[in-house]
Amino acid sequence: MDKLIIVGGAVLNGDIRISGAKNSALPILAATLLTGEKMRISNLPHLHDITTMIELLGCMGVESSIDEKMTVEIDNSNISSYCAPYDLVKTMRASVLVLGPLLARFGAAEVSFPGGCAIGSRPVDQHLRGLEMMGAEVDISGGYIKAKTNGRLKGAHIIMDIVTVGGTENLLMAAALADGETIIENAAREPEVTDLANCLVAMGSEITGIGSDRLVIQGKEELHGCEYRIMPDRIETGTYLVAAAATRGRIKLRDTDAKLLESVLQKLEECGATIEISENTIELDMKGKKPLAVTIKTAPYPAFPTDMQAQFTALNSVAEGTSMVTETVFENRLIQTHELNRMGAKITLEGNTAMVTGVERLKGAPVMASDLRASASLVIAGLVAEGETVIDRIYHIDRGYECIEEKLQQLGGSIRRVPS
Ligand code: EPU
Repeated sequence: MDKLIIVGGAVLNGDIRISGAKNSALPILAATLLTGEKMRISNLPHLHDITTMIELLGCMGVESSIDEKMTVEIDNSNISSYCAPYDLVKTMRASVLVLGPLLARFGAAEVSFPGGCAIGSRPVDQHLRGLEMMGAEVDISGGYIKAKTNGRLKGAHIIMDIVTVGGTENLLMAAALADGETIIENAAREPEVTDLANCLVAMGSEITGIGSDRLVIQGKEELHGCEYRIMPDRIETGTYLVAAAATRGRIKLRDTDAKLLESVLQKLEECGATIEISENTIELDMKGKKPLAVTIKTAPYPAFPTDMQAQFTALNSVAEGTSMVTETVFENRLIQTHELNRMGAKITLEGNTAMVTGVERLKGAPVMASDLRASASLVIAGLVAEGETVIDRIYHIDRGYECIEEKLQQLGGSIRRVPS
C-alpha cells in the first residue's frame, strides 16, 4: 500500500487544472446502459472508481475504449449479463447505480447489496422503494438485490422520504425508459444530479425541473447515443481552495465553475480569502493572512456539502478562533478529527458536532486515511504542519483525487508518494 509523505510549511502558490467530476461521471457511465447506441463521454477523471465502473460495465458485456485524454467510447449493444457482482460492488458502493438503468432497459437486474462504509450505514431503501412504485418486484436474497419487471417500468409519483443523491439518480435513469410520466418530489438538487439529467436529455429524454427538487420525466421507449462532457469536480475544486487558504497562499484553478460551489466560496470569504471568479476559473488569495475560523453545518445542496466538511475541519484547526462543524448528512463523518488531534489539533466531539479551537501550528505525525474526504483533510493538515506527516492507506485518496501529489507539487507543496 502506498503512503504519502508531506513536509509541511510551504505556502501554496500557482495554478492547476480541475478534473471532471467523479460523482457525475459514475452515474453518467451507468446511464450509458440505457441505450444500445454508441456513447462518447469526455472529461472523465483518471481515478480508481472510474476504472471500477468501466470494469463493471465490461463484465456485463459493454465494450469500451478510452483515449489518453480520458474520453471513453462505449458500445452497449451486446449486453450479456444484468449482474453487478459482489467483488466489484464491495469496492465501490456507487455500483448500485446500474440497478435503475438495467431494470429499465432489460427488465431485470441483480446487484450485490452495498454494505455500509466508514462514514455511515448508507442504506438504499429509497432506491428500492421508488423502483417498486414503478412496478418492479424486488427481492433481497443471498446478499443480492434481485429486481425484475413484467414489461416496462411504469411512470409513478414518487415523494422521496429523504433527500438522496444516488436514490434520485437511480430513479431518474429508471424513469427515462418507463411507460408514462414520473414525478420525483423532494429530489436531490446536487449539481451531479443535474449533470446526469442533462446527459439524459442529450440522449433524448424529456425532463423538466432540472436543478429543482421536483423532476418530471416523460418516459421514452428508447434513448439514443450522444456525446457528453462531464462537468468540473466541485469537491476537488473546493479541496484545493481550502488547502491554499490553510497555507495562507494564492491559487488559480482552471477548467472549473464557481457556480457549482457558492456555499463553499462564501465560507472561504468568511475565513478571510479574496476570491475572484471568471467563467471557468477561480482565484483565491489569502494575502498571507491567517484564516479565521468558520462555523459550518452540512446539508443537501445548495447548502454546505458534506464532501467539504473534513477539509474545513482541517482549516479550522489552524484558524484564528473557535468554530463548530456539524455533520447532518452521514452519521459517522467526523472520524478525521481523531487523526487531526494526533497532529496537535484541539477538537472535541459532541454528537455530530465538532468543536474546533484553532491552534498556532499542527505537528507532523504518522496518520491513517479512513475515507476519501477524511484523507483530503489529512493532506491539508500535513501541508500546514511542522515537520513530516506520513499518510497511510492512501488508496482512499486515489478514489477521488486525480494526481493529487503532482497537483500539489505544482503549487509548491512538498509531497511525495512512496510504496510501503
Ligand atoms: N440514505 C438513506 N436511504 C437511501 C439512500 C440514502 O437513508 O436509500 C441516506 C444515507 O445513508 C445518507 C443520506 O441519505 O445518510 C444521503 O445519502 P445519499 O444517497 O445522498 O448519498 P450517496 O448517493 O450514497 C453521494 C456521493 C457522496 C456524497 C453524498 C451526499 C456519489 C458516488 N457519492 O452519495 O460522495 O457524500 O452523495 O452528497 O455520488 C464522496 O465523494 O466522498 C462521497 C461520499
